[in-house]
Amino acid sequence: MTDNNKAKLWGGRFSEKTDEFVEAFTASVDFDQRMYRQDIQGSLAHASMLASVGVLGSEDHEAIVKGLTEIQHEIEAGTFSWSVGLEDVHMNIEARLTEKIGDAGKRLHTGRSRNDQVATDIRLYIREACADLERELDRLLTSYLNLAEKHVDTIMPGFTHLQTAQPVTFGHHVMAWFEMALRDRGRLRDTVRRLNMSPLGSAALAGTSYPIDRQMTADLLGFDAVCENSLDAVSDRDFAIEFCAFASTTMMHLSRISEELVLWSSAQFDFIELPDRYCTGSSIMPQKKNPDVAELVRGKSGRAYGNLMNLLVLMKGQPLTYNKDNQEDKEPLFDSVDTVAGCLRAFADMIPAIEAKPDNMLEAASKGFATATDLADYLVVKGLAFRDAHEVVGKAVRFGVEQERDLSDLTLQELQNFSPKIENDVFEVLTLRGSVASRNHIGGTAPAQVKAAIERARARMLES
Ligand code: ARG
Repeated sequence: MTDNNKAKLWGGRFSEKTDEFVEAFTASVDFDQRMYRQDIQGSLAHASMLASVGVLGSEDHEAIVKGLTEIQHEIEAGTFSWSVGLEDVHMNIEARLTEKIGDAGKRLHTGRSRNDQVATDIRLYIREACADLERELDRLLTSYLNLAEKHVDTIMPGFTHLQTAQPVTFGHHVMAWFEMALRDRGRLRDTVRRLNMSPLGSAALAGTSYPIDRQMTADLLGFDAVCENSLDAVSDRDFAIEFCAFASTTMMHLSRISEELVLWSSAQFDFIELPDRYCTGSSIMPQKKNPDVAELVRGKSGRAYGNLMNLLVLMKGQPLTYNKDNQEDKEPLFDSVDTVAGCLRAFADMIPAIEAKPDNMLEAASKGFATATDLADYLVVKGLAFRDAHEVVGKAVRFGVEQERDLSDLTLQELQNFSPKIENDVFEVLTLRGSVASRNHIGGTAPAQVKAAIERARARMLES
């Protein structure tokens, strides 16, 4: 056995040193060291359990606790030296522990495998990441509510096919964003609900012959329960896939909203002003103020989808149980954590700083025949069948297009040419305010309804 393999924690059965390239190729320490806290937390729980069932002596246990605590400080102080030769975060920490406390360090891995260890670490890591993300999502949800509250009366065109459809209020539109984000939060919570189970004790795959207490480690680590099946526990990565699915859906939502912010801040729409601090300039065109943050968020959605696909493909070919393929789960997972965290933060900061331009929104809404449906509905009340009313209004709109005048700019006489049922009260219906106010039911765009929706939303945010 060479010196190189003596240092390896699994060096015993090897007679040749690992190829240098292979050593680097198989190592994960460069990216899994970010789980050092969870790894130490898991080891502390495991050691306490071993001590409590009498597998580990109390002196050894104390030495392990002390050693691991010091190692955490070393890592946080930046004095810990990570070794690629020691492959991953788990073996780096364990080797350092043994270096510090001697034989007691070698007893930590009793009744455990890196397979249940790594499965535990990732679950703890995602659980923590989810708690941080939920705080950011809550900040974003509150930003939406506050922005919506300012604009329950602000009229803008509502779009289908990006064509003016019917007038809505800006507050109503922002509350649509709120609903999207609230569902994202629900998906985040579902992810945690299912992942919060302890794999520890599953060991390599079949469990262990030591008289372990799995419930104890689960309790110490704040897991809701133990994973029921050891084979599943070491090989399952569904929770990472679910997390990436949550991240993808959230990014898809942020991307759609980004698209709106980009359009609306353009000179052509001019509905909103994005604060300078969330935009950048052009090195050649002095007049430019580019909505880079929104564009980047839109662009980064691609990463999140890629990471989800990555994990799905990673898992699909793997027979039970653990395979080294699983080491490839971390980079996409961490990238999704970072991506969604950054984008949520950017959004939660930027949304409250959006300056709406109500006059421009109103002007845009008054073009494009936004109240055509209202005129049709008016005619239905006056006794026409809806399809006939649709036809009548279509003709009136065609006339308006030719004349370059909105429906509300036509005279009563002109309107009556299309249907004698039209009377003077039609102009109330043709106003934008009248139109939005008439959509006065739950989920509708009437300012009174939006106000009530915001109030309910504040309460719904507090629900678990
Ligand atoms: N670095 C490994 C991973 O991330 C840890 C588990 C290794 N287990 C094994 N039997 N090789 O998956």
